[in-house]
Amino acid sequence: MRATQNRIVRLLLIAGGLVAALIPLAVLGVVIVSAAGLPPAFLRPQVTQPIAFPHNVHVQVARLDCTFCHRNVTTGDAATVPAVEQCMFCHQVVATERPEIQKLISYWQQNQPINWNRVHRLPDHVQFVHSVHIQRGFDCATCHGAVENVGKEGVQQVRPLKMADCVNCHRENNGPTDCGVCHY
Ligand code: HEC
Ligand code: HEC
Ligand code: HEC
Ligand code: HEC
Ligand code: HEC
Repeated sequence: MRATQNRIVRLLLIAGGLVAALIPLAVLGVVIVSAAGLPPAFLRPQVTQPIAFPHNVHVQVARLDCTFCHRNVTTGDAATVPAVEQCMFCHQVVATERPEIQKLISYWQQNQPINWNRVHRLPDHVQFVHSVHIQRGFDCATCHGAVENVGKEGVQQVRPLKMADCVNCHRENNGPTDCGVCHY
């Protein structure tokens, strides 16, 4: 009896020790992964939007092209997000009874812009040009994933888009790697 209890206690102590040893390892893993790329999903802040805008409905049902709303993406640096007026082109009549569309209508009536929260944001010292990448034949999904399938949960970042990620792709595709290309 005594011996069994002792053995159990000893086993518990060993198990406890193992767990204690594993915690710092797990923390270290997270730190390494975060430095190299995107931190694991559960550590990333989920971006929520003032209106639950579903991309899937607009792309798959209303059949709108990405460039219908992100007008600048093939010609300029920033992709840009459309003004409220452009939404009202349809939503003066489409789904006006839904709560999210009522919110949209009230922004419009009060002449207020919608302050969409940015999902992708490079630091100020980095320059990114959408048009060059699109003209080179990369599609939106290369960097943003399958946005056409994203519903009301909202777009989230799926690719690191850190310096190593940018530079690796530039190397693989004969893109420029001088510091001055990406840094002001
Ligand atoms: C009807 C207009 C509309 C269409 C069509 C549309 N978008 Fe958007 N998009 C928006 C709005 C509004 C936002 C801002 C709210 C949000 O982040 O969901 C947005 C946000 C985004 C973002 C996140 C921007 C950020 O803050 O970093 C990406 C990436 C994006 N769209 C890609 C796409 C792609 C790819 C397509 C085509 C498959 C597409 N969009 C089609 C309206 C549209
Ligand atoms: C070309 C027409 C068109 C444009 C432009 C458009 N939408 Fe829509 N939108 C639709 C259609 C169609 C639906 C689906 C309605 C349904 O489910 O019956 C929809 C659905 C929605 C919904 C979901 C409503 C719900 O709760 O079911 C939201 C939110 C929305 N749109 C916001 C926007 C915003 C914000 C913009 C501008 C960035 C925009 N829409 C631009 C046609 C459009
Ligand atoms: C080579 C990678 C890459 C490709 C391809 C790409 N994007 Fe982006 N996108 C980015 C990066 C990086 C940012 C953040 C830019 C910043 O903060 O200056 C961004 C930001 C955005 C934003 C939010 C801010 C803005 O106005 O620029 C939207 C919307 C967007 N992209 C839409 C698109 C669409 C639509 C396509 C396809 C037509 C596309 N992107 C293709 C990398 C990419
Ligand atoms: C999927 C591959 C890929 C990714 C990811 C990518 N790039 Fe590029 N980028 C290219 C290629 C290829 C070129 C060269 C295009 C050309 O000259 O035709 C380029 C060109 C550029 C240019 C030059 C623009 C000009 O005016 O000539 C800048 C700036 C740039 N990229 C910044 C970035 C930054 C910053 C990131 C990361 C946030 C990034 N890129 C991610 C492939 C990529
Ligand atoms: C293809 C684009 C690209 C090129 C080329 C590039 N960088 Fe960067 N760099 C970035 C991006 C994007 C960031 C911001 C994201 C990050 O911190 O990784 C960044 C961040 C940095 C930072 C800040 C790091 C921090 O902790 O905030 C420094 C310093 C830097 N780069 C130096 C350089 C030098 C030196 C070179 C030339 C040898 C260079 N970069 C070339 C894209 C680039």
